[in-house]
Amino acid sequence: MRTAQLTIDPAFSIGPADRRLFGSFVEHMGRCVYGGIYEPGHPSADSRGLRRDVLDLTRELGVSVVRYPGGNFVSGYRWEDGVGPVGNRPRRLDLAWKTIETNAFGLDEFMTWAAEAGVEPMMAVNLGTRGVQEALDLLEYANHPGGTELSDLRRKHGAEDPYGVRLWCLGNEMDGPWQVGHKTADEYGRVAAEAARAMKMIDPSISLIACGSSNRRMPTFASWEATVLEHTYEHVDYISAHTYYDPSDGDQASILASAVDMDNFITEVVATADHVAAKQRHKRKLKISFDEWNVWYESRLQADLDRRGWVEAPALIEDDFTAVDAVVVGDLLITLLRHADRVGVAAQAQLANVIAPIRTRNGGPAWRQSIFHPFALTARHARGTVLRTDPVSPRYDTKKYGDVPVLDTVAVHDEETGELTVFAVNRDNTDLALDIDLRGLPGLSGYSFQSIAAGSDPSATNTEADPDRVTPRDLPTPTPDGGRCTVRLPAVSWSVLRFGPANA
Ligand code: AHR
Repeated sequence: MRTAQLTIDPAFSIGPADRRLFGSFVEHMGRCVYGGIYEPGHPSADSRGLRRDVLDLTRELGVSVVRYPGGNFVSGYRWEDGVGPVGNRPRRLDLAWKTIETNAFGLDEFMTWAAEAGVEPMMAVNLGTRGVQEALDLLEYANHPGGTELSDLRRKHGAEDPYGVRLWCLGNEMDGPWQVGHKTADEYGRVAAEAARAMKMIDPSISLIACGSSNRRMPTFASWEATVLEHTYEHVDYISAHTYYDPSDGDQASILASAVDMDNFITEVVATADHVAAKQRHKRKLKISFDEWNVWYESRLQADLDRRGWVEAPALIEDDFTAVDAVVVGDLLITLLRHADRVGVAAQAQLANVIAPIRTRNGGPAWRQSIFHPFALTARHARGTVLRTDPVSPRYDTKKYGDVPVLDTVAVHDEETGELTVFAVNRDNTDLALDIDLRGLPGLSGYSFQSIAAGSDPSATNTEADPDRVTPRDLPTPTPDGGRCTVRLPAVSWSVLRFGPANA
């Protein structure tokens, strides 16, 4: 069996594991809203049409912040269509997803849902077909206490107190030619800077996110960030990053190394932001909002769109995630944690049905996809300070990313409880013996060792009929001896190892 080594030392601290790293995303796309979080008449729905089964799963998932209402959808959206008496709301064409939007669900319903789910709302404004004025109107409606037309309209609609939304995205993927209202970096940078400046006049407490690249493969990647930040650096708090990894070609070795790409992406965005900071003499370091990331069988999307005409809430990109996909998602979370000093917000796309950890059937049950589990366990146990682990690992070759390590890890130390959690991915097709040196944190004993192993059945999925086929399994809890222990990481697996004070 191949071996790897890991040394844990609280001195190697990266930064706090911000709860905002465990965000998700609700877009008016497919059945994420309609038939996902909202389905009036569903047996579990409350009087407002919110599905309680999905709310329960959202809380179990441990989601901290939820981005809304898009995504590509937001670039053609008129937010005021979705407020006020439902019977008066217009039906519109949503160009992003070739869908009819009924507007039965809008901002006020989302805020009610977010409060029930116990999540922080993160709003996106439309800088595709709209501009500064509409962004200001939305902010006034949402955050101004009262005494103006739009804040009083909110109160008239039943929300006496302002929503106090702190996180605001200045548009979505404006670098993408597919985006309605797509712009050049200079065009976008100018409008984003002006929207940001004016929005902070209404509410200086908000944090603003400028659009970075839609992914690292965009031909404009890095120059887009540089130009946009030249315009916006002083007005914004984050630059966004998005990425999806597509397993459709069956190249398991490469998909398992997706986190290597995410890692490089983050490093490059940080370098670009720091370059602009140096050039413009800013002391403040900008953070990344990684507000769309996931595994996505993306090559199937176009056929889905081409096949049909304009309909309401069609099933769209409802990918069935495999055990391997769960390992990849766990590894992407490890990467986000490892960059906790520069990634301040992250949102997995999306929450329900649309490439989502939660799946539902209209009128039927809700269940956990394979990718639900690494997210839920990471959100639950990554509390405290993230520690750098620098593992010594064997390597393997991939078509997409070249020579990469077999092992990926991060550790989180909770100073208050004394608990230490190690997250580890073994990308290899055989088990890996991992030696862990814990002498930097004396007196720890093993609490648990859970793993999602994809080695024996990589394409296993959770379905309505078999919802628990891919779940974490308990493995023998390691017992440190003299501050050291060895664990056996199963082939192609994501694992969480927990240690804590021996006499707790
Ligand atoms: O999450 C699905 C879509 O992917 C989003 O609408 C868009 O921002 C991205 O391209």
